[in-house]
Amino acid sequence: MILVLALIQLLSFCAAQFSPAVTFTNITRSPTNSNITVSFKSPAQGTCTTVFDYQKQYSGYISLPPFTLAPAQQDYPINTFFWFIESRENAATAPLTIWLNGGPGSSSMIGLFEETGPCQIVELSDGSYGTQARTWGWDRSSNVLFIDQPVQVGLSYDTIRNGSRNLLSGDFVFPPTGAPTDQPTYSFLNGSFPSNNSANTANTSEIAAHTMWHLLQAFLETFPQYNPGARSNGTIVDATGVNLFLESYGGTYGPAFASVIEEKNAMRANGTLPSESTLEIKLSSLGIINGLVDELVQSPSSATFPTNNTYGLDLYSTTDTLNLLNLLTQTDGCEDQIKACRNASEVYDPNLEGDSNAVNQLCTSAVRYCSKLEALYIQQNRSVYDIRRKTPDVVPRGNYQEYLNYASVQESIGARVNYTESSNLVQGAFISTGDSIRSHSLDDLAYLLELGVRVALIYGDADYICNWVGGEQVSLQLASRVPAYAQGFPAAGYAELVVNSSYVGGAVRQYGNLSFSRIYDAGHMVPAYQPETAFTLFTRIIEGTELSTGEIISNTSIFSSTGPQNASHTNKVPSTTESAICWLRAVDATCSDDQVDKIQQGQGVVIGGAWYEDSKEYDQPPTTVMAGKPGTPLPSSASSSLSVITSSGSSSTIEPTGVYTATATPTSSSGAEARFGVGAGGVAAAVALVAGMVA
Ligand SMILES: *[C@@H]1O[C@H](CO)[C@@H](O)[C@H](O)[C@H]1NC(C)=O
Ligand SMILES: *[C@@H]1O[C@H](CO)[C@@H](O)[C@H](O)[C@H]1NC(C)=O
Ligand SMILES: *[C@@H]1O[C@H](CO)[C@@H](O)[C@H](O)[C@H]1NC(C)=O
Ligand SMILES: *[C@@H]1O[C@H](CO)[C@@H](O)[C@H](O)[C@H]1NC(C)=O
Ligand SMILES: *[C@@H]1O[C@H](CO)[C@@H](O)[C@H](O)[C@H]1NC(C)=O
Ligand SMILES: *[C@@H]1O[C@H](CO)[C@@H](O)[C@H](O)[C@H]1NC(C)=O
Ligand SMILES: *[C@@H]1O[C@H](CO)[C@@H](O)[C@H](O)[C@H]1NC(C)=O
Ligand SMILES: *[C@@H]1O[C@H](CO)[C@@H](O)[C@H](O)[C@H]1NC(C)=O
Ligand SMILES: *[C@@H]1O[C@H](CO)[C@@H](O)[C@H](O)[C@H]1NC(C)=O
Ligand SMILES: *[C@@H]1O[C@H](CO)[C@@H](O)[C@H](O)[C@H]1NC(C)=O
Ligand SMILES: *[C@@H]1O[C@H](CO)[C@@H](O)[C@H](O)[C@H]1NC(C)=O
Ligand SMILES: *[C@@H]1O[C@H](CO)[C@@H](O)[C@H](O)[C@H]1NC(C)=O
Repeated sequence: MILVLALIQLLSFCAAQFSPAVTFTNITRSPTNSNITVSFKSPAQGTCTTVFDYQKQYSGYISLPPFTLAPAQQDYPINTFFWFIESRENAATAPLTIWLNGGPGSSSMIGLFEETGPCQIVELSDGSYGTQARTWGWDRSSNVLFIDQPVQVGLSYDTIRNGSRNLLSGDFVFPPTGAPTDQPTYSFLNGSFPSNNSANTANTSEIAAHTMWHLLQAFLETFPQYNPGARSNGTIVDATGVNLFLESYGGTYGPAFASVIEEKNAMRANGTLPSESTLEIKLSSLGIINGLVDELVQSPSSATFPTNNTYGLDLYSTTDTLNLLNLLTQTDGCEDQIKACRNASEVYDPNLEGDSNAVNQLCTSAVRYCSKLEALYIQQNRSVYDIRRKTPDVVPRGNYQEYLNYASVQESIGARVNYTESSNLVQGAFISTGDSIRSHSLDDLAYLLELGVRVALIYGDADYICNWVGGEQVSLQLASRVPAYAQGFPAAGYAELVVNSSYVGGAVRQYGNLSFSRIYDAGHMVPAYQPETAFTLFTRIIEGTELSTGEIISNTSIFSSTGPQNASHTNKVPSTTESAICWLRAVDATCSDDQVDKIQQGQGVVIGGAWYEDSKEYDQPPTTVMAGKPGTPLPSSASSSLSVITSSGSSSTIEPTGVYTATATPTSSSGAEARFGVGAGGVAAAVALVAGMVA
């Protein structure tokens, strides 16, 4: 998820004390630099329940000592948290997929627990949380690696500092102290945190990219069995490479990270980097979900999407829209300021290190100015992640944040600091350089396409903040920069994305290695809204098949999708929408002002990290719900078959492996409706594994 300037999320915290001392069973050293270590362990069974209990998992830290990134300044340690989980089938030959959330400042544990990870959180009847396997987890078709970056995000830290966190404001206090007298003790918790020193993190995507290269070198050296490039017998190298999938601000991270990886490969090839102590990273595909790729290209749609969307919503007057467009195009307006920032950056900070004061100032003030484009939308009290919903929204949920702050879970995965979903400090560091608008993303993506990397742009059509209309413009601009795509890509038609025998999940334009997909009835975090569609598309991307059907493509270089020139399908705003739960660790996003006032006054009750005005509002799960917990896994018979409650209320069992290949297109009458409604993936999840219901 992305955190817009106008909407800084103050995320929060709960419970009792400091992180437990953790020990790692294994410590290895990186070939690129023997001072880089990988400390890891296998989390106890049940911590993140997988479909099959033979799926191996490793979690821990990759530690870069100070000065690893020289000549870039880095006088602080970087301890990066990772969590790897094997695929359900053929882990020894499966591709490797790296998942990163955006922000900047958002933890990739959002992706693991709320979007694509092998497991999901389930509440038990005693109000505690555990995990069940996720039907459409991306481990169905790939080995998966989740990384919390840049340092100080999620469970990653520079140095550890004990302190307290005010859940209502999101602020830290050092050293630990008691709660202020004007708020309840449960809203002010002690814990262990990163330093909160803003100089101790990356402040540009380019710096973060160099860190990522070191992290991957260390990971792939430690776990060569999961490095597709290192498998001497790999027959289909293309389909078994490393895939990088990112969301939101990942549209800025991804192109930078992938380009640095390819530049390092080129440097190994020409001897600038020693090939004996470094690894080639064979990148197969780069997937970007509702990404901020290029603000100059995407900004106009921030002004027009509220009136020009497929849900028939008309949120602005004509004057409002014209005023916003004027803000964009007038002399010294948003567009001019972005261009001026980019010009100055190119001259005075060509390596994007964020170390020129003049450039930083120019770019930061442009970011602030351009954020006015979203202000009107936010005033309407609509969720920036889902135009169909008013705030407070149902996502993100706070339950997984509670779970990651259990001492038992911290111990099991080796977490050395308390979990925070989003780092305001890291976000602030990126804003201080104006990284979001400096981006070289289109140049980087063009370079990647020329190298033969598959580039997949995926946009849920209900998202406002990185909406699909702007995403489509990105795809066209990108194609226009690469001679081999300039004519062919825009000429390719939109094909229906056939997800199963009765559901069309979107529209996809695919030409050669470039694709743009519009996903129906999905907000910003696409896999959370449309799990089956997201998984199916993901798998077709990494396997290099036809994205519409999953059929094998005989010659990628000349492949072109067919269909209409526009993705013109229209949707409806669902009439019944799940009401938001007020989570103490996400008060800004999930609680109303009125609820925050009541919390402050000590009214209501807290159950499982959620606040209720009255305990009668709490929906207690049945005692038959089962879930794994660290050291107490689910019986394996319970997790190897997955049962899903559909939006119509019926239950069906879904095979836990495989990907659908279409032989026919469903008729539009059966295909137009969403398989799952808003957030219903989550609802299904919560009741999926009830004892007795599963074979
Ligand atoms: C930090 O984790 C501990 C468990 O080790 C928990 O008791 C404490 O409440 C957590 N603090 C925060 C701020 O989440
Ligand atoms: C971890 O260390 C143990 C003991 O040295 C070793 O047997 C095991 O193979 C190591 N695990 C991995 C994944 O390297
Ligand atoms: C590792 O650290 C030691 C001590 O700080 C230093 O002397 C050495 O040069 C470092 N090695 C590398 C490869 O950077
Ligand atoms: C290929 O390599 C994998 C991983 O090293 C190994 O498990 C598999 O048995 C090998 N297959 C063949 C056919 O040699
Ligand atoms: C945090 O507090 C705990 C408990 O007092 C202590 O064991 C630990 O060393 C402290 N950690 C730091 C980094 O000060
Ligand atoms: C943490 O860092 C943020 C951003 O630099 C700063 O605003 C805040 O005051 C810091 N908090 C503490 C307790 O140091
Ligand atoms: C947090 O630590 C402070 C200082 O040690 C202590 O006064 C306070 O009671 C602690 N808070 C909780 C909730 O334990
Ligand atoms: C080696 O490749 C890198 C990356 O493409 C390039 O920047 C550099 O100039 C090349 N160096 C030589 C000596 O060819
Ligand atoms: C940026 O540089 C380009 C070419 O160098 C120039 O045409 C343009 O006027 C400059 N734009 C701004 C806003 O400075
Ligand atoms: C960004 O980080 C670099 C070090 O990588 C530092 O030199 C620079 O001052 C930072 N920029 C800001 C605005 O803090
Ligand atoms: C949005 O919410 C604020 C605060 O709750 C309220 O004052 C305002 O009237 C609302 N605006 C709209 C357009 O509903
Ligand atoms: C509305 O969006 C569609 C779909 O992207 C686009 O083709 C059309 O030009 C837009 N209309 C306006 C008035 O912006």
